[in-house]
Amino acid sequence: MKLFVANHKMNLTLLEIEEYIKRLEDINTNNVKLVICPSYPYLPLFNGNNYQLGSQNVAEEEEGALTGEVSAKQLSFLKVKYVLIGHSERRELLKEDNNQIKKKIKQVLKTGMTPILCIGETKEQRDLGKAQMILKDQIEEIFISLTSLEREKVILAYEPIWAIGTGSSATVEEIEEVTSLIYRYLENVYELKAKILYGGSVNKENISSLEKISSLDGYLVGGATLNPNKLKEMIEIMEEEYL
Ligand code: PGA
Repeated sequence: MKLFVANHKMNLTLLEIEEYIKRLEDINTNNVKLVICPSYPYLPLFNGNNYQLGSQNVAEEEEGALTGEVSAKQLSFLKVKYVLIGHSERRELLKEDNNQIKKKIKQVLKTGMTPILCIGETKEQRDLGKAQMILKDQIEEIFISLTSLEREKVILAYEPIWAIGTGSSATVEEIEEVTSLIYRYLENVYELKAKILYGGSVNKENISSLEKISSLDGYLVGGATLNPNKLKEMIEIMEEEYL
């Protein structure tokens, strides 16, 4: 079953999220696993059974004096099942590094949740022909510190930074080229059948062509999920493809 992860980032007011939660009831998710990642304070408001909950982030430590942080254990008590880790906005704007990302993945795995590790290259890195190397390094630096059982639990999200929030997704060919390299690399080095999501300006206009990439395990979608109508339409397209 494909995953569809909705990343709300720092959006929606309390009134808007209450309305959004009601609208989620109309979405049929028989063949798609829908995961909603709202802002932290809204997590306890979600109680539907046609989707699961995800968190946009997690603290790297287990507990303690870390003002403003939220631990993996606290998230798991709020019925969170998936946690985004290493999103490019956190890597770039908040200077999150691989050491922190590693610790976060460990925390998430310890509580039985599923980490979604975001990787992606900048436009400049791509133009210089360095995309493959950058992606390989982003995976390798984390995977090296995990056991094979832990590696199997990590879902990767390939999000080219130049496609995030721009309205213009990577093409089917670009995504196929990169993801098939990642699948092959993880198979060869770790004998791992990787799970890879694509993210970066996925919307209701382009999702049916992205659905042609049969190897993809789903999507990580930001902007286009803030409107429940658009979210519903994207899920409907995926459901139709399944039939
Ligand atoms: P976008 O964001 O769909 O708005 O491009 C995706 C993401 O950042 O996860």
